[in-house]
Amino acid sequence: MGSEEERRARELRALIDEANYRYYVLDAPTIPDSEYDRLLRELQDLESAHPELVTPDSPTQRIGAAPLKDFAQVAHALPMLSLNNAFSEAEVAAFDRRVREGLGREDEQIEYAVEPKFDGLAVALHYRDGCFVQGATRGDGYTGEDVTANLRTVKAIPMRLQDPNPPAWLEVRGEVLMLRRDFDRLNEAARARDEKTFANPRNAAAGSLRQLDSRITARRRLSFFAYGVGRVEGGALPDTHAGVMDWLAARRLPVSEARRQVRGVDGLMGYFHDLGEKRAGLPYDIDGAVYKVNRLADQDILGFVARAPRFAIAHKYPAQEELTLVEAIDVQVGRTGTLTPVARLAPVFVGGVTVTNATLHNEDEARRKDVRVGDTVIVRRAGDVIPEVVGVVMERRPMKDLVTPLYPPFRMRDTCPECGAPVVRLEGEAAARCTNGLACPAQRKQAIIHFASRRAMDIDGLGDKLVDQLVDKGLVATPADLYDPAKVNKAALAGLERMADKSAENLVQAIEASRGRPLARFIFALGIRHVGEQTAKDLARYFGGMAGFMAADEDALMAVPDVGPVVAASIRAFLSEAHNQTVIQALDNAGAWTDGEAAARLAGPLEGKTFVLTGTLPTLTRDEAKARIEAAGGKVTASVSRKTDFVVAGAEPGSKLKKARELDVRVLDQDELMELLKGVSES
Ligand code: IVH
Repeated sequence: MGSEEERRARELRALIDEANYRYYVLDAPTIPDSEYDRLLRELQDLESAHPELVTPDSPTQRIGAAPLKDFAQVAHALPMLSLNNAFSEAEVAAFDRRVREGLGREDEQIEYAVEPKFDGLAVALHYRDGCFVQGATRGDGYTGEDVTANLRTVKAIPMRLQDPNPPAWLEVRGEVLMLRRDFDRLNEAARARDEKTFANPRNAAAGSLRQLDSRITARRRLSFFAYGVGRVEGGALPDTHAGVMDWLAARRLPVSEARRQVRGVDGLMGYFHDLGEKRAGLPYDIDGAVYKVNRLADQDILGFVARAPRFAIAHKYPAQEELTLVEAIDVQVGRTGTLTPVARLAPVFVGGVTVTNATLHNEDEARRKDVRVGDTVIVRRAGDVIPEVVGVVMERRPMKDLVTPLYPPFRMRDTCPECGAPVVRLEGEAAARCTNGLACPAQRKQAIIHFASRRAMDIDGLGDKLVDQLVDKGLVATPADLYDPAKVNKAALAGLERMADKSAENLVQAIEASRGRPLARFIFALGIRHVGEQTAKDLARYFGGMAGFMAADEDALMAVPDVGPVVAASIRAFLSEAHNQTVIQALDNAGAWTDGEAAARLAGPLEGKTFVLTGTLPTLTRDEAKARIEAAGGKVTASVSRKTDFVVAGAEPGSKLKKARELDVRVLDQDELMELLKGVSES
């Protein structure tokens, strides 16, 4: 057959496959959704008019098929094994030693291919003559489940390899997972419909892949990353793992951008730390790094022990989720009076620290998760994020079958736990608030703790416990009192619990040193609702001085980039309050801040220009580069868009560089950046 329809169907498939690849694998879409939909519809129409044109690899086959009764079993030609784990540098060093000994190359630095350990589930994809024909879960390693129909719906998986001369048989192994943004969307939608949510992206991916109705899977947006190959016939592959990964990538299989090659234990540990730093910023969850001896011939020599290879190991980050017991649920009062339910937990080691409290966010969230005293809960601590309760293990609720449960569902209190003032919850807001403002000691304490914090006035040594005592003893009621020597002095401080003469002296000095901080820090330190660090910087740069800022009405405030009506109203409300004006006046008398110059007068050479940083610069740290750009009037943002003026790229840049190239954004190296900055001193 060589009809016009057949030619057009082939053309449409190629266009749609290309669009899928750019969208789902490269994360850089090139055609609008409407165009994509139009192409897909045209192909669907063509195929329903000419059913003989339908091919198994057609993108129309990605929408899911009729539900199955159960999954067929698939025997793996080569078993899908697991990896041994390492939790410390010593265990990594022991692994490397075993590798060197096993290869009889004790004195060499072995080359390793290193990559993230994806937190999803393992699958095998089979391509016959370059065409996707079957996919299976890992199962018990020897036999898995046939989830072909479900895997067809995963748009990141190519239905045909980009290869004019594909192997007769190729088994690709990798991990199916759900990107965090897709997970958030899925849970949000479930919540809106009052349905069950998934505890984490891994569970969501597993639940979605193992759907007997693949039309449900199709709606779930799963992703895939390849990390190896299984059975290969009728084709020659590169002789290193890194080479195989590149080879797969060239055939349009998604492989991790974060893969590298390193040598020896130092190289492995360096990668582990770098990846750890990138971890929170990755679009998907990982639970460690995987190290593989790079040369495949060496892998063969090393072979396997029991069910794990000797040539590879998983180096795990500390677990980010653990189970523990809820001992109580308290309500905490925040800086702006927000009441937050907090679960008091039996101490548990998670994410590298011991956790005893976890936030339940707000009343709705606490009730949705239905957390009660006595419950066993999953606690999660990821990166520097505040620990949170992910969900309750319902099977472990004590006496859960009683008609009258042991503890009732959580209910927010009507009065503030700290000052007894009434609590309100405004229409459309998730948070309940204490109505007592700074007359509430808890709000007062939080306001002072925030004022002194590192990114605000940076008063070293003024921690929570000390602020508690200062406020409780009536020494300090506002941030301004900190600078009043009649209230805060060495003698008064030395009289407090856990304060010696030396630490009292140090604190007095730290308070002194904080006088005259730049305006941006001071504005941030005031703790105005909705005014974070970046907004404070924008305001300081725009107004230059505190007087201009205090005089600005809402319209004037909204002239500042990124300040909208909500932020402007919040600032106005704060600055109009008599109490706040008195405190600011007292802080002025204490010389707490130094005005800068208004933007209009200063107009740095990079005024109005937006920068994005990616990769490691030769000498400047990220923070230094950011500070210099900002000192010159420029702005640094996190992601590349059409509004970005420059992308500053260093070694090992991420996808931002690719994005910059696609959007035709000018890319600078450090030298070129320095050229632009010429004549601007550091701030
Ligand atoms: S290689 C023979 N590489 O970890 C070794 N596995 O404990 C085969 N996994 O079932 C596995 N990321 O689901 C490998 N980059 C990666 C991985 C990875 C995640 C999972 C995989 C496997 C388990 C082994």
